[in-house]
Amino acid sequence: MLDTVITKPTVKPAARIIDPFGRTINYLRVSVTDRCDFRCVYCMSEDMTFLPKQDLLTLEELDRLCSAFIDKGVKRLRITGGEPLVRRDIMTLFKSLSRHLNTGSLEELTLTTNGSQLAKYAKELRNYGIKRINVSLDTLNAEKFRTLTRWGDLKKVLEGIEAAQNAGIKVKINAVALKDVNEDEFIPMIKWAHGHGMDITFIEVMPLGEIESARIDQYMPVSAVRSQIEQSMTLREIDYKTGGPARYVESEQTGGRIGFITPMTHNFCESCNRVRITCTGTLFMCLGQEDAADLRTPLRISHNNELLNQAIDAAILRKPKGHDFVIDRTINQPAVARHMSQTGG
Ligand code: GTP
Ligand code: 5AD
Ligand code: SF4
Repeated sequence: MLDTVITKPTVKPAARIIDPFGRTINYLRVSVTDRCDFRCVYCMSEDMTFLPKQDLLTLEELDRLCSAFIDKGVKRLRITGGEPLVRRDIMTLFKSLSRHLNTGSLEELTLTTNGSQLAKYAKELRNYGIKRINVSLDTLNAEKFRTLTRWGDLKKVLEGIEAAQNAGIKVKINAVALKDVNEDEFIPMIKWAHGHGMDITFIEVMPLGEIESARIDQYMPVSAVRSQIEQSMTLREIDYKTGGPARYVESEQTGGRIGFITPMTHNFCESCNRVRITCTGTLFMCLGQEDAADLRTPLRISHNNELLNQAIDAAILRKPKGHDFVIDRTINQPAVARHMSQTGG
């Protein structure tokens, strides 16, 4: 009698990136340019030196890099900058990446923007599968906006937000809480955002890159923001989560959601699910640390992804437990030398 050998069909396990602390990395943030049409005072210095164009990855290379991460199990992709919408032909990248949404390998493609170019691109973004975006906006006062951004036009941003909403994109407002700058505006901003059907998140400023002012003069802990808001509103804890580090509450008065992002006062690193790549193909395993890995060389050396995948795997093994941010009077140096605009927001 013949023995029957039963061979089980081999089911390929779903790809996953897991770091040394057991965290699953399924979220990639990609800074497509270090340039921006604004110069927010807490983000950049006045005279920034930007990267020469020849150092940048092409949009095709960025696509290949993102796709390699998607093959490895990344499910969410956020395009950032600088201001991502000032990069020439950036819609080509959104268009090509949208194929991963169509196949189901990517769950979300989104972006963080300052809103200045949104009126121009909102419809196209929606066509490429972008369903929700984050718009950075720290004040609703046009004069203050101009000073804070060093020359930005608030009207253009508001038109951009409206265009995004009209195109069917859900908008979240991200405001950095800045002492003496926008602390009198938290309530008006919440009412405005909620009145327009948007969530709003307040963020603690982080010591990234040299700027003109001392961080301590800008820094406001979220606890102070919250107690300020609570003088006029009742906040209720809710269970809402987006996969980002924000913790959400609901305002009883408006029924809308307010998020708090607390990199300084409450460390959310233990549940970190993300890594970042810059427009030169540098992989940063953590926003708050200097360690990085060059992915441009393995990307360019060969057309297949073997070396690239090896470089990614080796880098993930070095993902640190978290950041070491400190803002106080005794330390007058940024935690990391690069500005947020370089690594991506
Ligand atoms: P969603 O939940 O996807 O809407 O994103 P989010 O709430 O994380 O918002 P977004 O991605 O726009 O990030 C907002 C801000 O949170 C960023 O500009 C950073 O200031 C801060 N942030 C986001 N991710 C990290 C992170 O991994 N580490 C630290 N320290 N800060 C972060
Ligand atoms: N600390 C916190 N947030 C910052 N951003 C830029 N620089 C900093 C900083 N030093 C925010 C912007 C925007 C996002 C891209 O990053 O306001 O929301
Ligand atoms: Fe992740 Fe680093 Fe941000 Fe912490 S600071 S959440 S480890 S990227």
